[in-house]
Amino acid sequence: MPDSPYRAAFDATSPMFDSVTPLVWGPAGQSLAFALGLRSGERVLDICAGTGASALPAAAAVGPDGLVHAIDLSDDLLELARLKATARALRNIDFVRADATQWEPPSTAADGYDALACSYGVFFLPDMDISFARLVRLVRPGGRVGVTVWRKGAIEAFARAFFEVVARYKPGRPHEGPLATETYAAHPLRRIETEETLGPWLTESGCTSVEVREFSNHVPATEEFSWNFVLGSGFRGAIAEFDDDALASIRTEFLELLTARGIDSVDATTLVATGVSVA
Ligand SMILES: C[S@@+](CC[C@H](N)C(=O)[O-])C[C@H]1O[C@@H](n2cnc3c(N)ncnc32)[C@H](O)[C@@H]1O
Repeated sequence: MPDSPYRAAFDATSPMFDSVTPLVWGPAGQSLAFALGLRSGERVLDICAGTGASALPAAAAVGPDGLVHAIDLSDDLLELARLKATARALRNIDFVRADATQWEPPSTAADGYDALACSYGVFFLPDMDISFARLVRLVRPGGRVGVTVWRKGAIEAFARAFFEVVARYKPGRPHEGPLATETYAAHPLRRIETEETLGPWLTESGCTSVEVREFSNHVPATEEFSWNFVLGSGFRGAIAEFDDDALASIRTEFLELLTARGIDSVDATTLVATGVSVA
């Protein structure tokens, strides 16, 4: 499997990823699992599963007669997910290191999954539209499909301050990512970050009966949360090259800039979209 730049970037988030889970990844993943209307015995594919924010509630929802295939590029995040599944005695979930764009279902789901879930992940997939439409075809007709994405404007003020400080340390070397300043307008997330665009996109991917709900979430921007969010999310990729001294300076300047700008909460508002597969 050709390596994705996101594998190393997300492996590096693993020490802090789950410090963000209780306030951001977890509530959204739980909302997604609920919105999918999962029932006992169903088979779920969860892509870009991370440490299991949506896969673990999905496994609880489908119960011992159901199954969840939870796939991600990052071994380190998957290992944390496995530990949580073991601690919760969930034996119906397999965490597999795989690229979602290459995933072929094993025999237990060869006739189609009952549901597909992806929380904060579709916008990382290369050729997002083609890749996601292929995954929707792995769901049986009538099965459900659900995604979460940042709502337009969410995280923006926080991200702008962060990338402004990072740019002081590596001028002229752009970082790529959904919220990076230089590549902002061209990023695929821009095409699916409103109710008006995400709904039709899910329809185009092979779904009907599409619904988009807004999950409002404002997290107080304490110093602890703000820096944990940088280290435990895709932002981490932008500071991978720095040593501890540089990181300490970036942290200080970033927190000062948040204060100077009056950014006292992080808008983590998220769209939760579901549809029914027509494949
Ligand atoms: C922001 S995290 C979200 C993780 C989890 N769904 C959650 O909400 O906590 C995005 C995840 O997508 C994964 N990812 C990115 N591209 C991927 C791909 N092509 N195949 C599988 N996983 C991928 C990353 O490794 C990362 O764990």
